Amino acid sequence: MQGKLIDLKNEALAQILSAGNTRELEEIRVAYLGKSRGKITNIIKKLPDLPPQERAIVGRFANETKKAIEDALETQSTFLSKRRAENIAQTEWLDVTAPAVSLPDGHLHPLTQTLNEVVKLTNRLGFQVVTGPEIETDLYNFERVNMPKNAPSRDTQASLYLDCRNSKIQPGEILLRTQTSNMQARVYEKTKPPMRVLVPGKCFRVDDLDATHSYEFWQFEGFVVDRGTKMTHLFGTLDYILKGLLPGIEYKLWSTNFSFVEPGVEVVAKRTDGSWMELLGAGMIHPNVLKMAGIDPAQWSGFAFGMGLTRLAMMRFQVDDIRVLTNPDLRILKQF
Ligand code: PHE
Repeated sequence: MQGKLIDLKNEALAQILSAGNTRELEEIRVAYLGKSRGKITNIIKKLPDLPPQERAIVGRFANETKKAIEDALETQSTFLSKRRAENIAQTEWLDVTAPAVSLPDGHLHPLTQTLNEVVKLTNRLGFQVVTGPEIETDLYNFERVNMPKNAPSRDTQASLYLDCRNSKIQPGEILLRTQTSNMQARVYEKTKPPMRVLVPGKCFRVDDLDATHSYEFWQFEGFVVDRGTKMTHLFGTLDYILKGLLPGIEYKLWSTNFSFVEPGVEVVAKRTDGSWMELLGAGMIHPNVLKMAGIDPAQWSGFAFGMGLTRLAMMRFQVDDIRVLTNPDLRILKQF
């Protein structure tokens, strides 16, 4: 019986030493020392059958074996939990004092940044922002701003018409708006003067794509209708916006023609390479436009301006090609 105990002890110790986790250790404990069927327990249970002398010797030996296995289990258990703690420390170690990993910041598109600035500046002058449709009728885009059908001035705004062949709409009645001036008549219908309005938005024209032209571009229209509005108010407003957006800007004003203003002016600004780029058209709102809107030109007068937002952004960020601002490539956009 002692021989059997020695074998069991060696077997148990070998298993304990190779156990990899506490669950395995528990299985080993049950197999040898478990109350009902443990191999050592079974032997201890049989002790009363032995003759008294042998019983004492084997009994002591059995207890020693049991103790040796319990000690080995204890030691291995301590070893395993220490190793586990070390592993965690190595793999899951967390330095709560380390600086946080910063996530890459996004930022607003240069056009949006410029537009936000325009809105901020004009807000200070009392302008309110209004937006409107990009798909527009001939009526609002042209006729109500004094550009009747067949007006030669329409030639300057080659238009993209919608294909209405399978509808009741007359051909040439619906187009992508060529200018944010389309919102003048829409606002006049709903608002009585005095008013100060800013209309940012996308416009579309048939145009070949080159460094300063595109078939789609951002524009914003500003218009003021009030009593006694004069050209000097227009100049002051333009100067405030231009210098606010482009500190140090050099610009020239000269007279030009737009059917919806009289007189009309144009602003060209000096670029870094010394060339001049057209930035905006402006003027005193034509009495016909006011009359069509039911506003009496004898009582009210107003001015309007339409600036190319894309071109302003080009100057602001010193970009010499419009296509840079319409390119969605993040490697380009990250630079602004
Ligand atoms: N709508 C004109 C354009 O797009 C610009 C403009 C607006 C001119 C308002 C005068 C007054 O060319």
